[in-house]
Amino acid sequence: VVKAWAISGVDLHLELAGHRVRAGLEAALREAMQTGRLAPGTRLPSSRALAADLGIARNTVAEAYAQLGAEGWLTARQGSGTRVASTAAVSLPGPAAGIRPPLGVRAARHDLRPGSPDLSAFPRAGWLSAARKALSGAPSRALGYSDPRGRPELRTVLAAYLGRTRGVRVAPDRIVVCAGFTQGLALLCQVLPDVGVTRIAVEDYGQPRTAEALAASGLAPVMLGVDDGGAVLDKAHGAQAMLLTPAHQFPLGSVLSPRRRADAARWAAGSGGLIIEDDYDGEFRYDRQPVGALQALAPEHVIYAGTVSKTLAPGLRLGWLVLPARLTEAVASAKARSDAHTSSFEQLTLTEFITSGAYDRHVRRVRLAYRRRRDRLVAALAAHAPGVRVTGIAAGLHAVAELGPGQREEQVIAGAAARGVAIEGLGGYALRAHTRGPALVIGYATPPEHGYTTALARLVAAIRDQ
Ligand SMILES: Cc1ncc(COP(=O)(O)O)c(C=O)c1O
Repeated sequence: VVKAWAISGVDLHLELAGHRVRAGLEAALREAMQTGRLAPGTRLPSSRALAADLGIARNTVAEAYAQLGAEGWLTARQGSGTRVASTAAVSLPGPAAGIRPPLGVRAARHDLRPGSPDLSAFPRAGWLSAARKALSGAPSRALGYSDPRGRPELRTVLAAYLGRTRGVRVAPDRIVVCAGFTQGLALLCQVLPDVGVTRIAVEDYGQPRTAEALAASGLAPVMLGVDDGGAVLDKAHGAQAMLLTPAHQFPLGSVLSPRRRADAARWAAGSGGLIIEDDYDGEFRYDRQPVGALQALAPEHVIYAGTVSKTLAPGLRLGWLVLPARLTEAVASAKARSDAHTSSFEQLTLTEFITSGAYDRHVRRVRLAYRRRRDRLVAALAAHAPGVRVTGIAAGLHAVAELGPGQREEQVIAGAAARGVAIEGLGGYALRAHTRGPALVIGYATPPEHGYTTALARLVAAIRDQ
């Protein structure tokens, strides 16, 4: 039986398969919540109304609601009816291309995969008031086509912000605002071959989708090993460019050592090479001051890439490239061909958000929260899984947990999935062979604050019980 009904004006399509009406209704509602078709906070119809709509007994609906309530999907409160619980969102970011989500992950209630900050901590009120102020203050011409590099207001504010917080040496006319690092990299893939880049050195553990983007544009990768001092650079011979994550290697978490930073700058200046500095989570450093951007050592050779995906939310699709003079025009042209420019509305809002001090305040607040989570992760593993060694924790939003003797990534991932926890193994990030010991890459920033304790407890249980 296929039924549809309207919730708060939203048509929801439910398929009630088979004869077991109650089980069918539960499954259909669960599926709708898992896929996000029924969003957290959505008010469900009363059991009487839904029963009438579906032509089934009211008791059947009431029992299905009660069961889903017991499972944590729904909350019922006197006077405000039954709603989809705020924790019911399985807004899992899609897995990196090429990585299959482990079985059961779609139903995971607790997401500890790397790649996302706590989305429930997004400063909605602050963002809204920045948007209101930005839009009411913007002249009408700001709403028309604009400079492909981005709004001058934002580039001016970003230049100051990046200089102040990351030590980047930049003038506003060298910035191209883009849709996150993803688009920044895509633009560079178009431009680099024109300046003689055919081979690009990349860290041999990294984002598969980044490697795929490079390969798709015909750039041949040269693999660099990674150790406790970050990327090992001496294998970069023959490459005209390097893509590095100096502040916090992704995913292993090491920080590029001072000597290698100097080596990288010397290599670029000496050979005319280019370095793409992917500073995806550089705002998050816990034990001391953040290491400044590598870009400052060789601004005419380093393309600095930043993003709000970790500080605010990936969904904003806002990022920036800081470019050497010789690339700025070509990248701006590629951006113009790609999508004219990034939405002026979002750019002006971010401008206001940074200018008002709200961005700094937000980053400070979440940095503190993530630091506490990191400390709790380390403490929990030390107490309950002493065979596990945690590394890469000085910065960023994820840690690497090296598993103990005899433990396998797939087993722990499956054990975690059975407990409703989505987790990833290091193997999914090996761009050539997975030559390291078995390990998990734990995104401790991902769950909402109130879900972290449970997520951590279940993760620890999954590791301990293997
Ligand atoms: C290594 C790395 N760089 C950059 C990003 C950010 O990409 P974007 O700015 O397109 O959201 C991520 C996000 O997961 C990442 O893992």
